[in-house]
Amino acid sequence: MIKKTSRRNFIKASTFSAAALTVGGVLPGFSARSYRNIAGANERILVGMVGVNNRGSALAGTFAALKQCQINYISDTDSRALARCVDKVARLQSAAPRAQPDFRKVLEQQDVDVMVIATPDHWHAPAALLALQAGKHVYLEKPCSHNPKEGEMLIASVKKHKRLIQMGNQRRSWPNVMEAIRELHSGIIGKTYFARTWYANSRKPIGTGKPAPVPEWLNYDLWQGPAPRKPYIDNRIHYNWHWFWHWGTGEALNNGTHMVDLARWGLQVDYPTKVTSTGGRYFFTDDWQTPDTQTIGLEFGNKCAITWEGRSANGRHSEGSSVGVVFFGEKGTLQINSDDGYQVYSLDNKRVKDVKSKVTVNATDTSNPAGILDGLHVQNLFDGIKKGTALNSDIESGYISTLLVQLGNIAQRTSGVLNTNPQNGHILNNAAAEKLWGRTYEKGWEPAV
Ligand SMILES: NC(=O)c1ccc[n+]([C@@H]2O[C@H](COP(=O)([O-])OP(=O)(O)OC[C@H]3O[C@@H](n4cnc5c(N)ncnc54)[C@H](O)[C@@H]3O)[C@@H](O)[C@H]2O)c1
Repeated sequence: MIKKTSRRNFIKASTFSAAALTVGGVLPGFSARSYRNIAGANERILVGMVGVNNRGSALAGTFAALKQCQINYISDTDSRALARCVDKVARLQSAAPRAQPDFRKVLEQQDVDVMVIATPDHWHAPAALLALQAGKHVYLEKPCSHNPKEGEMLIASVKKHKRLIQMGNQRRSWPNVMEAIRELHSGIIGKTYFARTWYANSRKPIGTGKPAPVPEWLNYDLWQGPAPRKPYIDNRIHYNWHWFWHWGTGEALNNGTHMVDLARWGLQVDYPTKVTSTGGRYFFTDDWQTPDTQTIGLEFGNKCAITWEGRSANGRHSEGSSVGVVFFGEKGTLQINSDDGYQVYSLDNKRVKDVKSKVTVNATDTSNPAGILDGLHVQNLFDGIKKGTALNSDIESGYISTLLVQLGNIAQRTSGVLNTNPQNGHILNNAAAEKLWGRTYEKGWEPAV
């Protein structure tokens, strides 16, 4: 029953009602049609953007293009990125958004339903947890968290605060990718037992940084947020933080998350029994810490396996694509590349099906690889909020896919091989690896459910 009449409470209450509609079918005396007819069901969803230098700016364009959406606030610790994005969004929608450098102040506002988080990885879960506590829904860029413990906290928080998180692995909402997975599940290549995934790019070296004064455009304290404090070094911000374990998660989580997620979805598996990783920073000598060349192996008992190969410094394509997943089955092979298409091959290597993408995707574009396709993923979140539609990448699912790759990185940083509990993905009998399940935080910035 919706008792309060403010629009914010409508959106909140509608999440409850809508959840009831999906979980238990239709509530007694409350048909899906009457739900759609509730006054306000067509109200706009009000959005706050957090972190808009690169990906966040592209997402701001995607969100602003959706009729149902109005971006009311934009936050960034870089005053230049903030001004650029405010200007961009003001040109895309009728009302100009407000600039608020500190996103925590946006959380106090009534006129925000969804926070979009596209900060560096160390801020993903802590910012999402604050947003959930404040009663907001979240569009959270992948990886959902910097480490597995934070992912577990996100799941607990979504349950506690009854809000939604859609993780930004947008391929889950691309129509032909969805069709390819349906085809797999209905047996187009028979029993599927192996998925090979990869990403290749020719990234440049990042050099050797030196201590420097914090630029006047950057609030470095807020940028660091939950991460223990480090002096400012001039080659980390922006983007290169990806290659430092303190803030980033390497190419594995940066790009591996997308394809390992598809592999897991296609194979219908959750937690592995064994995880391996080999690789290193082989190519350049610079400050970059995470591997530029890495192969992660994930075993699911003797049912099936997934591998991910990452090459950050050699963009030679595999199977004709810079990024992709190939599923191997008893009757043939199914391949999904960077775009919204797929191909099926018989066991004797003849192409028997070729579904072409209607949209060109450039997987090496670091901000907006898929353009308008991403709007479908955002729309799915809006439908989840307004109508109770199941999310294509809810946090339970996003967590597991992220965890698989995080386990690969933990293996890489410790013994190379992990045995894991197939019930929950936890690491077995390996104290050094278990230490990397979580992280330490800057005092006073510890995240909470
Ligand atoms: N889904 C995709 O296809 C896709 C594509 C690209 C990037 N991403 C993800 O998006 C995230 C951002 O990547 P990027 O390339 O834009 O990084 P970036 O370093 O270029 O930009 C991050 C921005 O966040 C800002 N920021 C940091 N802390 C903040 C805070 N507390 N409040 C507000 N702003 C803050 C920074 O100032 C910067 O402007 C990454 O996690 C990345 O994995 C996803």
